[in-house]
Amino acid sequence: MPMGKPKVYVTRQIVPPWLDYLKETCDVELNPSEDAPPRKVLLEKVRDKDALLCMLTDRIDAELLDAAPNLVVIGTHSVGFEHIDVAEATRRGIYLTYTPGVLTDATADFTWALILASARRLAEGDRYIRAGKWKVGWAPTMFLGAKVSGRTLGIVGLGRIGQAVAKRAKGFDMRILYYDVIRARPEVEKEVGATFVSLEQLLRESDFVSLHVPVTKETFHMINEKTLRMMKPTAFLINTSRGAVVDEKALAKAIEEKWIAGAGLDVFEKEPLPMDSPLLKFENVTLAPHIASADIDARSKMSELVVKDIIAVLKGEMPKALINPEVQKVRPLSQVKRL
Ligand code: GLV
Repeated sequence: MPMGKPKVYVTRQIVPPWLDYLKETCDVELNPSEDAPPRKVLLEKVRDKDALLCMLTDRIDAELLDAAPNLVVIGTHSVGFEHIDVAEATRRGIYLTYTPGVLTDATADFTWALILASARRLAEGDRYIRAGKWKVGWAPTMFLGAKVSGRTLGIVGLGRIGQAVAKRAKGFDMRILYYDVIRARPEVEKEVGATFVSLEQLLRESDFVSLHVPVTKETFHMINEKTLRMMKPTAFLINTSRGAVVDEKALAKAIEEKWIAGAGLDVFEKEPLPMDSPLLKFENVTLAPHIASADIDARSKMSELVVKDIIAVLKGEMPKALINPEVQKVRPLSQVKRL
């Protein structure tokens, strides 16, 4: 067992006071930059570390794991973990933790911000005023938008966040449809008031289609030319899941050719969104820089959870949010104890 405090590399500043909390028990090295560490730096930094606290922008693959022979735990400051090769980490006996649950409300709230902003042209109105274009005080036909209350909301993926979005839709008296690969339990359907339908029916009937699936081989470009063409010309696409669930080129075409009424997007195939993205030219596309979980409460809880779970593993204790429980068969918790 290595001597001294366990060494942890942290790839980005987290919400106070959780870095200091981690420093109480661990020897912490923080990437000083606001941006993700370059790949070369990351590979170098993990070489002697027992733990890694990473973000969804850090690719954790076999190459990185090979460069880090002492690693016993990786905590990602995110609920999504498609950036981590779970099988490779598990094979090496590395515990993987993440931050589910604590960002559910924040993400659902923000999904609603995008639904309302898209339908009621909020960002467009803000740009209009700032550009000095507001010359007529009030007019009956000014900035007409789409009605939200009483409309049909289609939720793709009725997991934690999808359910929280559905619950909020009840307050808007909406008809709620959902599609998922696995149908939810009847109690869940009843509680959130959502009706299970095929993806095609959801796309054909919804006024707002909101995506809440992880990105996997199955969901990659699930929203593409074919599926966008199924949507109503008055419907909006809302995405707070992952950019790669949507074929952005097809979406730009759908907006350009008015197959749909607009979109509210917090996530993109490439982040930051390149300044030559065609999405930037449309007034009816509301854009956000991947901030759905960014309310101070949620982000603090994410920092707390990921830090405490890293410490738990280093103590040989069960973390709260383990991605790969099967890792215990490869290396029991008693063997990872560093604290
Ligand atoms: C954010 O996108 C997350 O996965 O937490």
